[in-house]
Amino acid sequence: MRLNKFISLSGIASRRKADILILSGRVQVNGKIVLAPFFNVEKNDIVTFDNRQLTIAENVYYVMNKPSGYVCAVTDKYDPVVVSLITDYDGKIYPVGRLDRDTEGLLILTNDGMFTQNVLHPSKRIHKEYEALLNIPINERQLERWRKGVDTPDGRFVIPVSVDILDKEPAGRWVKIVIISGRKHEVKLMANGAGFSVEKLIRTRIGKMRLEKLKTGEYVSLSFSELYTKILNGGIV
Ligand code: URA
Repeated sequence: MRLNKFISLSGIASRRKADILILSGRVQVNGKIVLAPFFNVEKNDIVTFDNRQLTIAENVYYVMNKPSGYVCAVTDKYDPVVVSLITDYDGKIYPVGRLDRDTEGLLILTNDGMFTQNVLHPSKRIHKEYEALLNIPINERQLERWRKGVDTPDGRFVIPVSVDILDKEPAGRWVKIVIISGRKHEVKLMANGAGFSVEKLIRTRIGKMRLEKLKTGEYVSLSFSELYTKILNGGIV
């Protein structure tokens, strides 16, 4: 395998960035600096970057219905972390993007360092849909105002892709919000800007992949192409 491909599969850089890392002399094979991106790496060769050994793990992808109370992190001092719920994989894995500790719903976990860049980067404009329980009922006039955009407490003006009332009890308090941004607390901040607070938040869709079957805390393992197809073309989990 070519050295630049090995480096990108190890998850530390894209193929193009790998070329730059190699040319900058930071990559060694069997203890010797190699400056050629197309250098052929053999099966038992030891490849290091800044003296750290690189390995290629097979990519794994999980989709979870995240329960409330779990932090989207690999380790945390105080709270249980979402990766601890994946019990059938003992390699390194991490959540893609961030749901708040008290948010439930669709979460992708993977060891594919390029997944966000290749599939979920904000430039790809992938929609994310949330169901939010507001503290008080919302009326049509307030909804209309929210649709035109709100000033968030952190000083931004944000416009959702859509926001609609859901036919769910308690009546008038559940809304379906679709956003593109992956910013921290985006839905809650938007709700605050519209004059509400969020009492419960569930992510129900990423792209065209919809949460329907997985119960809270359950997850499913998918191949890259299964996951990619569900997000881009539609599918339920
Ligand atoms: N927006 C929020 O406010 N919280 C989440 O967990 C996700 C989106």
